[in-house]
Amino acid sequence: MNEHETRLRRYQEALEFAERQVAALIERHPDFFPIYTVDGRWHHEGELWTDWTGGFLAGMMWQFHRRTGDVRWRQHAEHYSKLLEHRQHDRDVHDLGFIFLNTYLPWYELTGDSALNDVLIQAGRTLAMRFQPKGRYLCSFVGPQSLFIDIMMNVPLIFYAANETLDQDLARIALAHCRTTRDYLVREDGSTAHEGIFDLETGKFLRQSTHQGISADSRWARGLAWSLYGYSRVYGLTDIGEMRDVSERNAAFWIAHLPEDRVPWWDFDADTTQPPPWGAQKDSSAAAIAASGLWDLASQTDSPARAIAYRTTALAMLDQLVTEEYLATDTPGWEGILKHGVYHTAKQLGVDESVMWGEYFFVEALTKVIMDAPEDTSS
Ligand code: GLY
Repeated sequence: MNEHETRLRRYQEALEFAERQVAALIERHPDFFPIYTVDGRWHHEGELWTDWTGGFLAGMMWQFHRRTGDVRWRQHAEHYSKLLEHRQHDRDVHDLGFIFLNTYLPWYELTGDSALNDVLIQAGRTLAMRFQPKGRYLCSFVGPQSLFIDIMMNVPLIFYAANETLDQDLARIALAHCRTTRDYLVREDGSTAHEGIFDLETGKFLRQSTHQGISADSRWARGLAWSLYGYSRVYGLTDIGEMRDVSERNAAFWIAHLPEDRVPWWDFDADTTQPPPWGAQKDSSAAAIAASGLWDLASQTDSPARAIAYRTTALAMLDQLVTEEYLATDTPGWEGILKHGVYHTAKQLGVDESVMWGEYFFVEALTKVIMDAPEDTSS
């Protein structure tokens, strides 16, 4: 077996482990949508902060079905997706892209059932209602003055709805949001701030801020991963080159600042001579998101050299995530798939735990590599 086949076999085994962990979760806690583990256990009384991750659990089921064709995964995926349908009208979160693009989109693509597409379009319209015309951004769940970098992963849902309906207002809102985010949250060096605060009277940008990073001017790893993947996804839906440029700037920063094992510290500015949680704490979920985003960006870039760098980095991160250090295969009683994720350090939620988006993007990235690239993909 050559190196490439060995890698694919390891990825396949990791996905089979992921299937077993998800099957055990839904058997143990039917119809429950967890966000993060506590001591490796999904069911606990911990605070949610915001309810945004249902699409990742259901989304993994769609990914499992896509790879295996197993009809049981499709039945579970439909059931768990249906439980999220009412969220198409949810105006309390900015995360409707996370919820619907991973569930109703694969479901619609499989069936062509227009009722499923109607749900996607409505969810896109609901998300667009967060638009602040003065500041020209979609506001975060925190309040109308707040713009989050995370929303870059949700705005593709509005572009999707715009493409399906030819509604130019939706397209204008989505594009304005992407440009405002680029102008105020994406820095010259390709790093990102978590949050921007705007004056509601004038729409003027006031300052960068953070909830989940170390500080307003730090480089929170997951935020950067959201931006990298989000702009790439927007490029995929719009073909607007300036969107891809942002993703490529994010990717350049990402690749240049990874530590030796290629899995980022939770914030690129963490003082790793200090102990966790504020110091030497990895975020495996950020690695999984970036791996999936870089994989796509490799087929979007005009530069063959950068395409190789993106693929090589994506594979290096995944190679690390499938080791026992990160994969919970040999951790008795651990109910998640990937260890060493982080949700919210300042609130001490899900720190050094499994987190549902880390699980999803890990599964998505491995599935892409296995399905998109039967040949050697490293060059
Ligand atoms: N709320 C999005 C995140 O924790 O990355």
